[in-house]
Amino acid sequence: MALKALKLRVCGGFFSGSLDFAIPFVMDSSALYSDNYRTNPEKVWEEMRNDFPVFYDDISNMWWVSRYEDVKNIFVDYQTFSSSTYELTTGQVVGPTLISRDDYGHVVRRKIVAPDFVGNRLRSYEQLIEDCVSNLINSFESEEEISLVREFSSQLPVDVISAILGMEGDGQLFRQWVTSMIMGLNDSPELRQKGLDASEAFCSHIAPLLNEVDDLDRTDHIAKIARAEIEGERLTNEEITAFCGLLFIAGGETTDKAIANMWWNVLNHPEVLEAVLDDDSLWENAFSETMRRTPAVISEERFTTRSVELHGVEIPEGAKVRACLAAAHLDPTVFQDPLSFDIYRSDMNLGKENRSGVSKDSERSGHFGFGLGKHFCIGYELARNEAIVGSKRILERLGKPRLQENQQGQIIQARNSFFACKELIVSFQK
Ligand code: HEM
Repeated sequence: MALKALKLRVCGGFFSGSLDFAIPFVMDSSALYSDNYRTNPEKVWEEMRNDFPVFYDDISNMWWVSRYEDVKNIFVDYQTFSSSTYELTTGQVVGPTLISRDDYGHVVRRKIVAPDFVGNRLRSYEQLIEDCVSNLINSFESEEEISLVREFSSQLPVDVISAILGMEGDGQLFRQWVTSMIMGLNDSPELRQKGLDASEAFCSHIAPLLNEVDDLDRTDHIAKIARAEIEGERLTNEEITAFCGLLFIAGGETTDKAIANMWWNVLNHPEVLEAVLDDDSLWENAFSETMRRTPAVISEERFTTRSVELHGVEIPEGAKVRACLAAAHLDPTVFQDPLSFDIYRSDMNLGKENRSGVSKDSERSGHFGFGLGKHFCIGYELARNEAIVGSKRILERLGKPRLQENQQGQIIQARNSFFACKELIVSFQK
């Protein structure tokens, strides 16, 4: 409970002057689930940062942490803040994966795919990304206005991952399953069952690809994951399909929502739109600033492996902690004028992220939109590439975009996991 100072002016009777009171100021957990919060969460995040840097949410039974340095520490200190929480979410729907491990097993599994999604190896997928973008644009190029989310951003990431895994053209099929699998991460038994059914259909679909993986002509990722050995042992089929499921879950809706948020931010700032039309390399800056100002993923959960004292509050061992990275990104002690969308800001790294997510420039801070440290996103460069290439090509082929009136902006979704636009209707002028 925080104390708030109150000055009261009292006149009359035996006393005339001012009194200082310290009154208890209580924040109710329902503030984090109200309709107002869903569309304007920034005020509540500010209250948490200022008065409740460690806040116990008795609705979800978890501890929220919202200041930049504290969130950073949670990501970095994986020995105290364990990712085993994922055993209760992705683990239940797709099976065991690296994301819920903090041990050596995490490191070796990560090495199987992570290097392919960055640097020169990612460059070998550039044409594949261009082709996926081009196919989608072909399907709506002649329309006067498009549903950017339905027709583009929700499709591209799943098309790209399907093609990388060796299932080009199966994007449509995967989209339904991935959506149900993500809904299945929720606690509701009904949604969980739908997620499990989708996961089963997904596994049956990819099962044939688990055969003949030693055929060295196969360059797809499923064969690659299946051929990888950890201390002389290959992954089980269950682990391979779970790995593939994780790539879809982690890389599908996240990238979709990041693209939608970036377009919302750019189209709502005419000077930024003019800047990217004039110099399309500035999409890179717009992407980074979007990841800070309106990150698609707003928080990550951890379990405490021991009791921890933070700002005078004791978080018990075995408690769930929610590192609210979106609130941390608005910390005014780190980013100047944090609520503004500024693609030239001098206090943040703009452009490509570093592999670990740790900023090497002491003058500029990094965003946590892709996490930080051990579990830093594997697909950070792939997602950025899809968003930038997709946006550039749409402008080149369709012309100057304009957002239709009365569009809804970002909204909190999936019980404080995402903050994103659900749809954007955009028209173009050649
Ligand atoms: C803009 C799009 C994306 C966002 C916002 C995003 C966000 C994140 C975040 C915040 C984490 C850290 C999770 C944690 O610490 O608990 C993460 C991890 C991960 N991401 Fe992404 N991601 C995106 C795209 C992708 C893509 C395209 C892929 C793969 C194709 C991917 C695969 C993964 C994997 C496998 C992990 C787990 C890494 C580990 O545990 O070592 N992500 N992502």
